[in-house]
Amino acid sequence: MVALCVFDAYGTLFDVDAAARDSAVPRDVWPRLAADWRRKQLEYSWLRTVAGAHVDFWQVTQDALDWALEASGLSEAGLRAEMLDLYRRLAPYPEVPDVLRDLRARGVRLAILSNGSCAMLADAVAAAGLDGQFDAVLSVDAVGAFKPAPAVYDMVGQHFGCAPRDALFVSANGWDICSGAAYGFRTLWLNRAGAPMDRLHGAPDAVARDLMDLPQFLETL
Ligand code: LAC
Repeated sequence: MVALCVFDAYGTLFDVDAAARDSAVPRDVWPRLAADWRRKQLEYSWLRTVAGAHVDFWQVTQDALDWALEASGLSEAGLRAEMLDLYRRLAPYPEVPDVLRDLRARGVRLAILSNGSCAMLADAVAAAGLDGQFDAVLSVDAVGAFKPAPAVYDMVGQHFGCAPRDALFVSANGWDICSGAAYGFRTLWLNRAGAPMDRLHGAPDAVARDLMDLPQFLETL
């Protein structure tokens, strides 16, 4: 059995759409705004890594929000501040706290491996009531590049002294899962959105819509 479970953070453990959904953004605008914000956040992370122009994920998150707000014709400074504040304390997806507790009770070691800055991840874990649930919260701050740079995935082996095959990597991002699988992790794609499979190098070992069956799945590995 694999006894180390490594989670992506945003969209996997923390409800990444909540900042736009719970803000004062008009009801007919927030879904597009949330999608634009997320897409630009990821694009900027990839582009900055390819260009060797790293800034931390909080800067990338603010830059992406500014693009998304402008694209939606929204310019109130209060809205920007509200959404950024909400992003620092996203709710966990409903099943997350119980599943993490179940895994810990089974002796599984748990970690986060995320683009998020150390400060962002500390805030998110605390706001979600998940303090003390993780053996490690690994931020790309330590390597100065974003996923899917292999240096990010290397952090797991460096921290836990294990081979990639000894870890199950769980992410809601198809591209992150394909890259993690090609790197050598066991992988579970948490396809919360029912998205098509990315056409990339590497493919997941399994796909699920939520984390409910994760404890049983781990026992099959
Ligand atoms: C993360 C983003 C990619 O947490 O979801 O790393």
